Amino acid sequence: METRLVRIDEKQIDEALVKEAGDVIRAGGLVAFPTETVYGLGGDALNAASSEKIYRAKGRPSDNPLIVHIADMEALAVIVREIPASAVKLAERFWPGPLTMILNKADIVPCETTGGLDTVAVRMPVHPVARELIRAAGGYVAAPSANRSGRPSPTSAKYVVEDLNGRIEMIVDGGDVEIGLESTIIDLTTTPPVILRPGYITGQMLQEVLGEVAEDHTMMRDDSGQAPKAPGMKYRHYAPRGELTIVDGTAQNVVEYINGKVAEARRAHKKTGVICTDASLKQYRADVCKSAGERSDEEAVARKLYRILREFDDEDVEIIYAESFCADGFGQAIMNRLLKAAGHKVVHLS
Ligand code: TXA
Ligand code: MG
Repeated sequence: METRLVRIDEKQIDEALVKEAGDVIRAGGLVAFPTETVYGLGGDALNAASSEKIYRAKGRPSDNPLIVHIADMEALAVIVREIPASAVKLAERFWPGPLTMILNKADIVPCETTGGLDTVAVRMPVHPVARELIRAAGGYVAAPSANRSGRPSPTSAKYVVEDLNGRIEMIVDGGDVEIGLESTIIDLTTTPPVILRPGYITGQMLQEVLGEVAEDHTMMRDDSGQAPKAPGMKYRHYAPRGELTIVDGTAQNVVEYINGKVAEARRAHKKTGVICTDASLKQYRADVCKSAGERSDEEAVARKLYRILREFDDEDVEIIYAESFCADGFGQAIMNRLLKAAGHKVVHLS
């Protein structure tokens, strides 16, 4: 299949191009598009065959449900059985934006879209290109992240091309994304609601609106016996090809430990890499050292993380060490993705 690559500037949206992209989805085809979190791979959420195509294009297991993207509240009423008061409150505060809510699904949503579940994940993105495309596509766009299964989510169109060129009808390039990590997911079908995936909308922000909020225990720990509640979180996602280990400790101890390990790996003729921050960048002696920015600037770190993981792949790095990050607030999302990329391999230095 030939994949058409088009560029749509969010500040000057080409309506004709958006309509063409929308028509592709209406006709059952797939279009990758920018959102504020990561690029999505969109298909008609109400068309079972489209959802099956999404799984095939990504190489994704079909028990892993898709998020349905909508552009207004009227669309929400169509795809869920009932809208609880909690969903209305969250929507007022955080939609459009990087929050996904799990609700009981209406019959109109095919099981292919929800991976066989009775619940459906719904998000109203804020990215102007995403919003226009959803409307042009008929209002209900199923979209997982636009990466091949197992690779980090794409934060720019060039990574979508790398992963999906030749496998889908169209890629809409809308430039680099703003947040860089996937949306926060909250399950509203249980009492209290449970956060299944941390993101830009933090636990504290959700608590301010909902009162009590719980967290899926598998988010930050490797509870091997326990399956995460978001089926997708059980896969070793976001994984670089190299072997990644996180090292936690005081700044000086971490540098010394990693440099020792790097020297060891080099003696074994392995190509080494380090994920660090601006303050420590010059102290590492690995083959490839990449700074995620200033440690205190979590938004910058989040925006860069997936790109760094992909670059290590491009440069065939075999052994990677990463500094640890503070896991509070938005930092929890950063550490959750890093822990998953590392398969929860963490060295704690005293
Ligand atoms: O920011 C995002 O959410 C991006 C952009 C494109 O919107 N999308 C995204 O989709 O990250 P995806 O498919 O890569 O991740 C969706 C996650 C998976 O872990 C999946 O298992 C979970 O949401 N999920 C979807 N529907 C669910 C449901 N009904 N119950 C529990 N978890 C669900
Ligand atoms: Mg994904």
